[in-house]
Amino acid sequence: MSNNSSIYVLNNQSEIPAIGFGTWQTPDGETAINSVKVAIKAGYTHIDTAAVYGNEVSVGQGIKESGVDRASLFITSKVWNNERGYESTLAAFEKTISDLQTDYLDLYLIHWPANEKQFPDTWQQINADTWRAMEELQAAGKIKSIGLSNFLQHHIDPILKTAKVAPAVNQIEFHPGFMQAEVVDYCKSKNILIEAWSPLGTGKVLDNETLKAIATKYNKSVAHVCIKWCLQHETLPLPKSITPERIKQNLEVYDFELSAEDIATIDALPYIGGSGLHPDEVDF
Ligand code: A2P
Repeated sequence: MSNNSSIYVLNNQSEIPAIGFGTWQTPDGETAINSVKVAIKAGYTHIDTAAVYGNEVSVGQGIKESGVDRASLFITSKVWNNERGYESTLAAFEKTISDLQTDYLDLYLIHWPANEKQFPDTWQQINADTWRAMEELQAAGKIKSIGLSNFLQHHIDPILKTAKVAPAVNQIEFHPGFMQAEVVDYCKSKNILIEAWSPLGTGKVLDNETLKAIATKYNKSVAHVCIKWCLQHETLPLPKSITPERIKQNLEVYDFELSAEDIATIDALPYIGGSGLHPDEVDF
């Protein structure tokens, strides 16, 4: 794909819009309904949500009120940690599509891997069982593509051993100062698309002086630079905003190109801030 392409092609040949509208931390109710409507009107065709965000009913309502055809949208959700396992994943999926007022998903992800710290003896089996449910839902035509989120190589390898379907994406935290090069390189080698959650470091990277200087040079915002940097690394950014101007702004990244030198400068930034969550350490 070229840096200016507005789609990526997944390893199952499905197309996915190259920028998605993030909804993590978007408050449920009118805020979620309105921001989804603003996003769709601004041109987003890809909405990323999750059961645990607690806003799927409102996201679904915003989509409905936008009046656009379901078929013209790409909708992603994720099975939450307390629903892992075969039967409960199947049930969680039905609740999610009912809340979203749709009868299928474009992409469904395992939100976090079961980890060894929480499940010393069973974590691999739990992940394999959850994946089997995802495969079944896909085979039944209820999900177009299936994938992972927050998986590192040592979580992915066991999945690949028993999987009938390879994961199409891995959605991870990815932003300046937090590149996770190891898992990114690994996924690229397996043709698994990296989706970048919190491409703006949950807003924490926006005051960085280096990023500000680069943004000024291109007459763009730091948010633009972060989003473009994701695209030029062939990852799929999912910027979140509830502010109409920012929602629109975050799509305006196709009128400039970061130079190789500026990309290298951003790549070299030390940790600036982010979620601080590690898949092997979380206890939720
Ligand atoms: P808000 O939702 O109040 O507009 P991330 O996507 O990395 O999680 O970052 C989301 C945070 O960044 C939110 O606090 C959001 O604020 C803020 N944000 C999103 N887009 C922009 C932008 N273009 N300029 C400044 N802040 C932004």
